[in-house]
Amino acid sequence: MAEELKKKVMVSGIQPSGDLHIGNYLGPLRHWPEMIEEFDCYFFLADLHTITVRQEPAVLRRRVLELLAGYIACGLDPEKCTLFIQSHVPAHSLLAWVLDCYTMFGELSRMTQFKDKSARNADNINAGLFTYPVLMAADILLYQPDFVPVGEDQKQHVEICRDIANRFNGVYGDVFKIPEPYIAKVGARIMSLSTPETKMSKSQPEGCVFLMEKPEDIMRKFKRAVTDSDREHCVRYDPSNKPGVANLMQIYAAATGKSYEDIEKEFDGQGYGVFKPAVGEAVVETLRPIREEAERLLKDKAYLQSVYRAGAERARRVAGRTLGKVYKKVGFTEP
Ligand code: TRP
Repeated sequence: MAEELKKKVMVSGIQPSGDLHIGNYLGPLRHWPEMIEEFDCYFFLADLHTITVRQEPAVLRRRVLELLAGYIACGLDPEKCTLFIQSHVPAHSLLAWVLDCYTMFGELSRMTQFKDKSARNADNINAGLFTYPVLMAADILLYQPDFVPVGEDQKQHVEICRDIANRFNGVYGDVFKIPEPYIAKVGARIMSLSTPETKMSKSQPEGCVFLMEKPEDIMRKFKRAVTDSDREHCVRYDPSNKPGVANLMQIYAAATGKSYEDIEKEFDGQGYGVFKPAVGEAVVETLRPIREEAERLLKDKAYLQSVYRAGAERARRVAGRTLGKVYKKVGFTEP
């Protein structure tokens, strides 16, 4: 336990808005098992955030469990980190309300993600979409973390979280620890198989390989992967002229641990007709144990329930302490 206390704290939320794919896995997710050794990690499925965009209830319910199983199968050992579901810890919503009152309308209107999302969901620009960064600030500040792992798209959210925390601390003293963004090791930045100029994304399923996908579907997607239109037809690492080939090489390298040089030699004199299925097979083999483990876990609902219940219990304890402090500081009467 003493050992536990010394570790730096890290918090991150995962939106259950889509299925895990190899861009997530070969990118940041692969490093998470190392992170849980080094830090005291709180990871939650951000279901409260997800309803800022309309969801099919049954799909959301299924997806939360699938992601939980998927993350555990990828090596997030629930004995070594706190895994929970955001809506199971009411303190997130409760602190968000308080922080709403310490966040300015103007600063929220400048958030780029709000501008993007409201442009994309013009028929549903709801208040939750607007206050999303405040809920995220609450998610973070409740656990008094040292670090928040961030990708490029979430940097602005961590900045506003720090601004809100500093503002609150300015009035009431040191209530919140000011977290630092943690630039996580990203590993590979995997691009779409069908449009290799854009990042692999669940919104373009033809170019996206999901972790739980059947081997034959994975193979089909790789066989159809866009390579290039030059006549050279050789496997050579040249991201600016041959982005499709470079992406496939990157995937192959991440799946097998081989260097680009090794890969060029391996496929020297052979066309893409040999290379593409080889990448597909390497990915199928890398994913096989993860998929099998995730499928096994998904059948064991009692186990998954025990994981998220234990996680929520631990999270509620820690979050409750911070919320209690905040309530006292702002002048709420003790119940
Ligand atoms: N906004 C994050 C995303 O879309 C998810 C998230 C919610 C999060 N709360 C968080 C990330 C707290 C880090 C910390 O990816």
